Amino acid sequence: MRIVVLVSGTGSNLQAVIDAVTSGELDVEIAAVGADREGTYGVERSSEAGLETFVVNFNSFPTRDEWDAALTDRVASYAPDVVVSSGFMRIVSADFIEAFNGKYLNTHPALLPAFPGAHGVRDAMAYGVKVTGCTVHWADAGVDTGPIIAQEAVAIEPGETEETLHERIKVVERRLLVSTLAALAAAQKPA
Ligand code: GAR
Repeated sequence: MRIVVLVSGTGSNLQAVIDAVTSGELDVEIAAVGADREGTYGVERSSEAGLETFVVNFNSFPTRDEWDAALTDRVASYAPDVVVSSGFMRIVSADFIEAFNGKYLNTHPALLPAFPGAHGVRDAMAYGVKVTGCTVHWADAGVDTGPIIAQEAVAIEPGETEETLHERIKVVERRLLVSTLAALAAAQKPA
């Protein structure tokens, strides 16, 4: 199973995928790692790991549609079976998702459909829920919407900050992303 991973930032979930591939735990080929802006640590760590990387800079395009079309072309050039949004903080179009047969996987640091968006951890804390978690799902053209594949709960502890909670969620999220990809890869393998 060939994957392209999209990042906007640190890429610690991506690193978990790279580590699992390197150790042989995960049988997928990371065809490329792409970002929507220059200077992400996600791209830097991918280059260090010897992976193909690219940037389709959102701010270099006059319109969202032109950026989306350029991103679609670039990702399609790697012929991925699955595209993974791993902390990719941009909405893509229905055309993008269609170009990859709907195989656009996203991870989110909350129990969707609760607390979608860029601040899922902060919003859960602000609401005062006692349990939150993370979700791996097939993304559609909405904000963190689409069929859920896997979820795991994380209890919010007294005295927690957004940073400590997000880090504890990410520990679970990384494992869930790797196990989901492993299951998808196994399902795709010819018998
Ligand atoms: C992850 O927690 C991911 O779920 C979240 O960004 C973080 C990226 O961390 N994505 C969203 O909030 C999408 N709505 P990472 O760059 O260290 O992997």
